[in-house]
Amino acid sequence: MTLPLIASKLGNPTKLGYFMADLDDIRDGDNFGLNTPADTSSFYLKGLNNTDWGIKNRMARIFNRKSGRTVMLAFDHGFLMGPTSGLERIDLNIAPLAEHADCLMGTRGMIRSSIPADNTRPICLRTDTGTTILTEMNHNVLIAEDDAISMNASAMAAMLAIGDAATEAITVANFSRLVDIGNKYSIPVMGVTAVGKDMARDARYFGLASRVCAENGASIVKTYYTEGFEKVVAACPVPVVIAGGKKLPELEALELAYNAIQCGASGVDMGRNVFQSEAPLAMIKAVAGVVHDGLKPQEAFDLFETLRAEAK
Ligand code: R5P
Repeated sequence: MTLPLIASKLGNPTKLGYFMADLDDIRDGDNFGLNTPADTSSFYLKGLNNTDWGIKNRMARIFNRKSGRTVMLAFDHGFLMGPTSGLERIDLNIAPLAEHADCLMGTRGMIRSSIPADNTRPICLRTDTGTTILTEMNHNVLIAEDDAISMNASAMAAMLAIGDAATEAITVANFSRLVDIGNKYSIPVMGVTAVGKDMARDARYFGLASRVCAENGASIVKTYYTEGFEKVVAACPVPVVIAGGKKLPELEALELAYNAIQCGASGVDMGRNVFQSEAPLAMIKAVAGVVHDGLKPQEAFDLFETLRAEAK
């Protein structure tokens, strides 16, 4: 990546040149060892060999031991966008899907108010909050760690706005503090890569953003699928899951999940493509078929159609 490219992304070339004198010779990596798997000899998930018992135990709640993967159900969207389609009533829309997900990702308010307390699925608690779609996005702070502990969170998630001049520093600082807290209490932290409005959605960008999460201590990285995703995954030493993004036709969403898994992703943290589906229960089961059972997209879509028809 050249200096002008990085400088234009971050918006202050003079300042950049001042504190990073060698910024004009950052070379893209090209040796990702794609045929050499990470060492998982002492724990089944990559990058966690040297973490302690508590982190491993919580990760084992989230990631299926047999497949090594997870289907996380994301429903934290409301803290940014209010009662969006499919999330009008978490008790009606999400609670019935809970037992079919490997992990539930949401905010403390929605989980406490709308997910029954006898839920046994692990919680990945959205731990940063701040602005909404009505204002400047991503000016976030962290909730108190006591609350994550009292909610028995198996993981904590916070967003990093990499490349966004206004909020990159605050979100990386938030994330770093969250990892300090996570390490203290052995709670894994998931880095959620935001998509900056000026950022190219390509493997170079998502590779950089994912790596920044891992460098700052993430145990899980959530990012977006893109062409060249195998490099994003290879350069990220901890498990990577993909967000689904905007609602797609079901077959396309299943192809997205399949392609990500083929590139080495450790699962999905999918929201809208499940809860905005015509048949959310059928869809989460079809996604699980891809993630855990090796179904091809068309096979998973056939499963979706069968389950949808049965439910009518
Ligand atoms: C993004 O910050 C949110 O954490 C969502 O949970 C994430 O985007 C995943 O949801 P979706 O699959 O709808 O993109």
